[in-house]
Amino acid sequence: MRQRLRQFLEAGRTPSEADLAFARRYLQPDLFSLFRSQHPRDMVHGAATARWLVERGYEEPDLVIAGFVHDVAKGFQRRWDRAAFVLCSRTGVAGWAANEESRLEIRRAMDRTRRHSERGAAMLLKAGASARVAELTALHHGPPGGDRVLALLQEADAAS
Ligand SMILES: [Fe+2]
Ligand SMILES: [Fe+2]
Repeated sequence: MRQRLRQFLEAGRTPSEADLAFARRYLQPDLFSLFRSQHPRDMVHGAATARWLVERGYEEPDLVIAGFVHDVAKGFQRRWDRAAFVLCSRTGVAGWAANEESRLEIRRAMDRTRRHSERGAAMLLKAGASARVAELTALHHGPPGGDRVLALLQEADAAS
């Protein structure tokens, strides 16, 4: 019973073999290493975002690749780091609470989340991603404007 409960609680939080094989099909080795360096939950989220797109026929490589790796700079996040960020964002104090140099891990984690778009873009360029993948990553929490591909990435992100 305890085992079943644990399986239930952990379901979907670690990438499956199918997730990894799917990622390997789209990501060149350096990008795949970056993908693999994420928190397991972010790997699952990235694979689900990419799958949402491919299953709907949106197979443009830059878009699908961005689906896999757009959150690559979030780094390690404990469950309460994520919860604190959501709470602080809703109450408008995330900018104050997030602090890269804080002695408190929770405040450093919030800083990583706040800046993960632009930092992710820089990491991806360094790993050999295209300028378009970096651009989609940099902008994935901003207003899409007339960028239909970015709007699709945001829809897939929100659904995953
Ligand atoms: Fe994100
Ligand atoms: Fe995301």
